[in-house]
Amino acid sequence: MKIMSRRILAVISVAALVAACSSSSATPTASSAASGATTCKEAANATPVEAVSWWTTGGESSGFNAIINKFNCDNPTYWVSNSAIAGGAGSVAQAALQSRVLAGNPPDTFQVHMGHELLDTYVTPGYMDNIDDLYTANGWTTQFPQGVLNIVSAKDSTGTLHYYSVPLDIHRANVLWFNKTVFSSNNLTAPTTWADFLTDAAALKAKGITPLAVGDNGIWASGMLLEDVLLAQLGSDGFNGLWTGATSWSSADVTTALNTFQQVLGFVNTDHSSLTWDQAADYLIPAAGAQPKAAMTIMGDWAAGEFDNKGFTDYGYAAAPGTTGIYQALADSFGVPKAAKQKAGVKLFLTLLGSAAGQDIFNPYKGSVPANTQAGNPPATAKQYSTYQKWAMGEWKTDKIVPSMEHGAAAAPSWKGAVETAVTSFVATPDVAALQTALVQACKDATVCK
Ligand code: GAL
Repeated sequence: MKIMSRRILAVISVAALVAACSSSSATPTASSAASGATTCKEAANATPVEAVSWWTTGGESSGFNAIINKFNCDNPTYWVSNSAIAGGAGSVAQAALQSRVLAGNPPDTFQVHMGHELLDTYVTPGYMDNIDDLYTANGWTTQFPQGVLNIVSAKDSTGTLHYYSVPLDIHRANVLWFNKTVFSSNNLTAPTTWADFLTDAAALKAKGITPLAVGDNGIWASGMLLEDVLLAQLGSDGFNGLWTGATSWSSADVTTALNTFQQVLGFVNTDHSSLTWDQAADYLIPAAGAQPKAAMTIMGDWAAGEFDNKGFTDYGYAAAPGTTGIYQALADSFGVPKAAKQKAGVKLFLTLLGSAAGQDIFNPYKGSVPANTQAGNPPATAKQYSTYQKWAMGEWKTDKIVPSMEHGAAAAPSWKGAVETAVTSFVATPDVAALQTALVQACKDATVCK
C-alpha cells in the first residue's frame, strides 16, 4: 500500500516536472550574464520546501543557490529555501539536524554525507523514507557509480535493497593546494611524499613563509590531515582496513604516520585554531602588493570552489603527499525524512538534484565532480567546470577510491567523534603514544576492533 502510493507520487512528480519545464510560468526578476541564469521571485501562494545545508560561503552557497534558483524558476508552485547553518563539514549543522529529526520536526530535506553518517544516524533508526521510486523513475541505478550506490542504500529485514538519498556531488578530500608564484620563486614543485613536504616546509619556514595553512576551529580540518598521513603510510588497502578491523591501529606503520603528523603540525600557522577552513584557504591568496600568508593548504576540493569564487587563479594542486593515484571520496546527498511536510515538492527537488542537468548547474561552482556519470557537459551559456575539476574527473575514473572518515563515509559518527577528541588533545599537546592509545580504543569502542 505504502509502496503503491510512492510510485503514484513519483509518476505525478515526474509529470509535474515535465509540465513545469515546458511552461514558462516563472517570474523572472534579473539575469546573471556569468551563469546565464534567471533569478525568480516567490509566488504569493507557493508551497515552501525547506532544505538545510552547511553551505554558507563562496562557491558552496553560490552553487546551491544556483540549483535552488533553477528549481524555483521551473516550479513556481513550490519555493525551496536554503536554511544554511554555518560551520564547515557540518560541525554545527549535524547536531542541529539530528535534534530536529529526533523531535519529529525535520526540514523537508537536508545535506547528509553518503555512508555511515546517512545510514547509521538516519536510515537504520528508521527516520528516512526510501526513495526507490525516484531511483526507478530516473534510471539512477545505472547513472551513479556502484560504489556510491552501495553506500546510499541499505537492505530491509526481508533482504530487499532500498535507496535513501541522492548524491549531488563527489568531493576529493586528499588534495594539496599551493600558491604557484611562491612555489616557482622558491624552485619548488608539489611534494609527492611527506618526507619531501617536510623538506620543502623547512625551506619555506627558513625564508619566513608559513608553509601550511590550517583552519581547525572545527577540529575536522586537522582530522583530515591525520587521515592524509595515514593514507600515505598505509596505502589504500591498509587505510581501508583501519575502518574494517583488518589493519591494526597499534601497528608500527600507524606510529610512523602519527610521528609524521606531529612533524607536519610543526609547520602550520600559529592562529590555526581561530580560523575556519575557508579563512585558512584564503591565506594562499595575496592581498594587493603583498605576499600570501601561507604557501600551501591541504583541504578537500571545496577549496577550489572557494578560490574560484574569490577570482584567485594562481593556485596549483596535487594529490596530498604520498597519495597519488588514490581518491579519498565523499558525497553530499539529500533524502526525504519520514516526517517531512512537503514530500511531493521535495521529491521534485531531489529529481533535479540527481539529474545530469542539475549536477552540471551545482558542481562547477562547488569544486566537486558530478556524482551522476551522465553529467560533465554544462550548456555553453552556463558556468563551466574548472581546470582543476577536469583533472579531478579523470582521476575519479582511474584512481583507487577510499572513503573519508571526517566526511561521514568511512566510520560511524560516534567513532569520528572519538578520533576528533583525540586529535584535539594532540594538537594542543602532541603525544604520539597517547594519540595511538586513544585511536586503538576508539576502534574497540566502535566494536570494529577486538
Ligand atoms: C564537507 C562537505 C563539503 C563542504 C565541506 C566544507 O563535509 O561535504 O561539501 O561543504 O564540508 O564545509
